[in-house]
Amino acid sequence: MSKPASAVRLDKLLANLGYGSRRDVQAMARAGRVTLDGAALPTAEARVAMTPDLAARLQIDGTPLDPLPGIVLMLNKPLGMTCSHKDEGALVYSLLPERWRLREPPISSVGRLDKDTSGLLLLTDDGDLLHRIIAPKTHVPKRYQVGLARPLRGDEADLFASGTLTLAGEAKPLLPALIEIHTSTQAALTITEGRYHQVRRMFAATGNHVVTLHRDRVGALDLPADLAVGTYRALGLDAAALIFPQ
Ligand code: URA
Repeated sequence: MSKPASAVRLDKLLANLGYGSRRDVQAMARAGRVTLDGAALPTAEARVAMTPDLAARLQIDGTPLDPLPGIVLMLNKPLGMTCSHKDEGALVYSLLPERWRLREPPISSVGRLDKDTSGLLLLTDDGDLLHRIIAPKTHVPKRYQVGLARPLRGDEADLFASGTLTLAGEAKPLLPALIEIHTSTQAALTITEGRYHQVRRMFAATGNHVVTLHRDRVGALDLPADLAVGTYRALGLDAAALIFPQ
């Protein structure tokens, strides 16, 4: 038997989705702005069952509710934006609807891409899923398309696959990584760790310099060709199955 959906107080749910304080939400209900299945809810003190269809059935000012907690997004990160919540300058979170930035639990990036890296970035408010993807012991493969300043030396595939390469300032060697060579200055690199500036530092260890870096795969999930730069798409309830297929 499937687990019954948990019930939550409407004022708590809406406040945590960023619609305002509990007091604001209460006032919205009293004003008849909150409807369930077309009927106005006179009070936000009622409890509602968190069924997957709630976001469609519950409307605010005639607009379906934002996605319920458990959101997983894939974003095509543009160059020049940072993944931090509080850096100066352009943040990836500015690409999301303003209200989504007020959610509790917050939507956070799953790991980070450098400011100068583009491509597939997952975002979620699901702490368990986030940790499952970034936990060092999980080894989710991440593939990067790399443009280099200088031609490859020729020994990169063996060196990166060896499991003996140690990055400057670190003691622990990197896990084996897979390089697929496209041209003398272009390659795809798949790594299963997430060390600081890992791809750039791996090529720096070979005397090269990464000029362009773009992530196009995380786990089994490819960046969709039709996902425009700077836009995002929500993954469904099967997000984990898309990232970690059986
Ligand atoms: N490795 C890097 O050097 N930068 C990234 O953004 C991701 C992996």
